[in-house]
Amino acid sequence: MRKVILDVDTGSDDSIALMLAYLSRQLDTLGVTVTWGNNSVEDCVENTLRVLDFMGAKIPVYQGCSAPIVRTLDEKRLAQNPGNAIWFEEDGVRYTIHPKVLPLPDAVSKKEEKHACSYLVETLMNSKEKVTLIPVGPPTNIGMAFRMEPRIKDHVEEVVFMGGSVGMGNVTPTAEANFLHDPEAVKIILNSGVKVRIVSLNATSSAPLSMEMADEFADLNTKYGKFAHDIIKLRAKVSKHLGWTDGSAEAIHDALAVATLLDPSVILESKRYATDIICGNDPLDGTLVVKEDETSPVEIVLKADARKYFTLLKKAFENE
Ligand code: BDR
Ligand code: CA
Repeated sequence: MRKVILDVDTGSDDSIALMLAYLSRQLDTLGVTVTWGNNSVEDCVENTLRVLDFMGAKIPVYQGCSAPIVRTLDEKRLAQNPGNAIWFEEDGVRYTIHPKVLPLPDAVSKKEEKHACSYLVETLMNSKEKVTLIPVGPPTNIGMAFRMEPRIKDHVEEVVFMGGSVGMGNVTPTAEANFLHDPEAVKIILNSGVKVRIVSLNATSSAPLSMEMADEFADLNTKYGKFAHDIIKLRAKVSKHLGWTDGSAEAIHDALAVATLLDPSVILESKRYATDIICGNDPLDGTLVVKEDETSPVEIVLKADARKYFTLLKKAFENE
C-alpha cells in the first residue's frame, strides 16, 4: 500500500478527501497534518479530528502553521479565507462553503503535541519507504518542511497537490486559492525538483458532481453517504446563491487529488510542464507560469472523468 500523509485545511471538500483516503482502504495514511486556509488552523484541526472520529480512524493529527511562510496573515488575507469570504444569509441562517465547524459531533480525539512540520521532517527522514504527500490546502507546512530539511526530498515519492490552475482562477482571474494563499511555499516545493502532480482547478472544475450523484450518495443509506450528500448540497447552495454555478453540479476539489492515486484513469488529460509561480505585489500573484516540457518532474492534471470520480467516492461511502 502506498504510504501517504495528507495536509489539509478541513474544510468541506477536505472532509471528503479524508473520507476517500481512509475508506478506500487502498492507502496507508500515516498521519494528517493541518494547515491554516479555509478557516484558522485551530478550527481546521477540530474539523479534521471530527472527520477522523466519525470514521473511527486512528490516524495521528498534527497542527501546523497558522499563517503563510513569508506573508502576514493580516485582516485583508483573513477576510479572503473562504470560511469568512464565501457565505450568504437566508432566513437568519448563515450558509458558508467551509463551515467553521463541520456538522459532526465534537472531536473526542486529541491532536498530537508535535508540530506538523517537525512530524513531516522526522517521519520522512526515518521512513524506509518513500511517502506520498497530498497537500490540499495552502502548502505552508510542506514548504516549511522542505526548508527545515531539504533532504526529505529523497524520501518523498511524489507531492500530489490540489491547487493551482492554468489560465483560470477562483480568487483572482488567474490564481487558485490554495496556491495564492502561499505561493512562496509552492515555489519552494517546485524548486526542490521533487516529483509533483498538480491536480489543478481546471481538472476539479471539469469534473463536478451533479445533485443526482449527491442523491445517490444519500440513497446508500450509510452515514458517510448521508454526510457527503449534505456537504455537496451545502456547497452547491452557496455556489448557486453567489452566482458561480446554476446549482446543478458542484466541484469537490480536494478528493480528486486522492482519486488520482486510487485510479489514475480518472485523469482524462494531463501534461508535463516546466513550472514556476508568480509571488509578490503583482496582479498575477499566485499564478502558475507554465511551459510544456516532457522532461519536467511536474505533471499538471487538466481534465478528469466525473463519472469515474463519482464511482470511487460511492464505493468508499458504501462502508458501514
Ligand atoms: C481549494 O481551496 C479551498 O477552499 C478548498 O478546500 C480547496 O482545497 C479550491 O480552490
Ligand atoms: Ca482544502
